[in-house]
Amino acid sequence: MTLDRLSFMGLRNLAHVEMRPQPGINVIVGANGSGKTSLLEGIHILGMGRSFRTQQLKNVIGHAVEGMTLHGRLAGDPPIPIGIRRLRDGSEMEMRMAGERVTKVAQLVEALPLQLINPDAFKLLEGAPAVRREFLDWGVFHVKHDFLETWKRVRRALKHRNALLRHGRIDERSLSVWEGELVQWSERLDSFRSDYVREFLPIFEETLQELLPLPTLTLRYSRGWDRQRSLAEVLHQGRDTDRQMGFTQQGPQRADLRLRIERRPAAEVLSRGQQKLVVSAMKLAQGRLLEQLTAQTCTYLIDDLPAELDARHRHDFCRWLERMGCQVFITSVDPEALEGMWQPDTSVAMFHVKHGRLDTLKDFTTE
Ligand SMILES: Nc1ncnc2c1ncn2[C@@H]1O[C@H](COP(=O)(O)OP(=O)(O)OP(=O)(O)O)[C@@H](O)[C@H]1O
Ligand SMILES: [Mg+2]
Repeated sequence: MTLDRLSFMGLRNLAHVEMRPQPGINVIVGANGSGKTSLLEGIHILGMGRSFRTQQLKNVIGHAVEGMTLHGRLAGDPPIPIGIRRLRDGSEMEMRMAGERVTKVAQLVEALPLQLINPDAFKLLEGAPAVRREFLDWGVFHVKHDFLETWKRVRRALKHRNALLRHGRIDERSLSVWEGELVQWSERLDSFRSDYVREFLPIFEETLQELLPLPTLTLRYSRGWDRQRSLAEVLHQGRDTDRQMGFTQQGPQRADLRLRIERRPAAEVLSRGQQKLVVSAMKLAQGRLLEQLTAQTCTYLIDDLPAELDARHRHDFCRWLERMGCQVFITSVDPEALEGMWQPDTSVAMFHVKHGRLDTLKDFTTE
């Protein structure tokens, strides 16, 4: 799905902006502090129900106002309006889609698959496994419709097992029941994840090959528990140590994607620019796989695309975006950094943000 209208009120320094993005490439330029990242943040909140800059949505509300309202419209016949409202007074976030109240963020996530590539993106390589699990599960969520239910069951069983472990006297029978539940749903989750990685890998390798050939880079899925033993065995044999630690040490909650170059973690070997290209290849590959498996396209939010990339790599990155044909929102401080990056027949809509106001510089609809 693509967004054909955006209207944000009370979002950081953007008091009121209206935007008519095109289905392809949208470039947003402006000086430091003008509001470019805030604009991407607004789209991210619309599609994910949360910001990528703060855990607390109230921090995103403009200092001078009591609340923010974000509206978007998903193009289609009929188009689907989506909206989010959050007041400063601490009340819940309100979500709407197609005129109805929405209670689950997953409904928004499903309608508007988003990928963010920003200066924090390298955390996908050097951050904690949770960051890579989130990446992996984004992919699985969009292609396996019972992923969410499976994941919730795992979380519930894990919570119960951990609570029993921390209890003074262990109730062996309850422990066995929850372990059984945990094993059953974890195996299912593991098979979703490993199937996904199997399909993802060749697409990732192909994408990376054209961005930054790194023949010695390997990406391997690690399921979170001993490769030689079943989870049932691991849990049973680990009861004593888990009890001492007070939590379950192995299981799908410890799954990871290991990116290595000749046995060393990729984050320790690659330069910043190389890391950005590897992470971008991972995120582009997820969008390509999504389209292959579901015919849905993904919207890319790329904050400060030129940063850390030389002209050749910027060009290769832009080539992929053009070829994928999805909707992209790119920000840049310097409009010239993206000049000459596009094929002559690619239409690029240009917007300018200045002190929280948005102007359309080049409107694709008027060409
Ligand atoms: N809650 C808020 N209310 C009002 N203004 C805010 C709020 N939070 C941040 N700002 C301001 O909003 C402005 C826009 O920030 P933003 O990060 O979107 O800028 P930017 O255009 O991405 O800049 P840069 O090029 O430096 O990344 C900044 O001046 C910032 O201080
Ligand atoms: Mg910014």
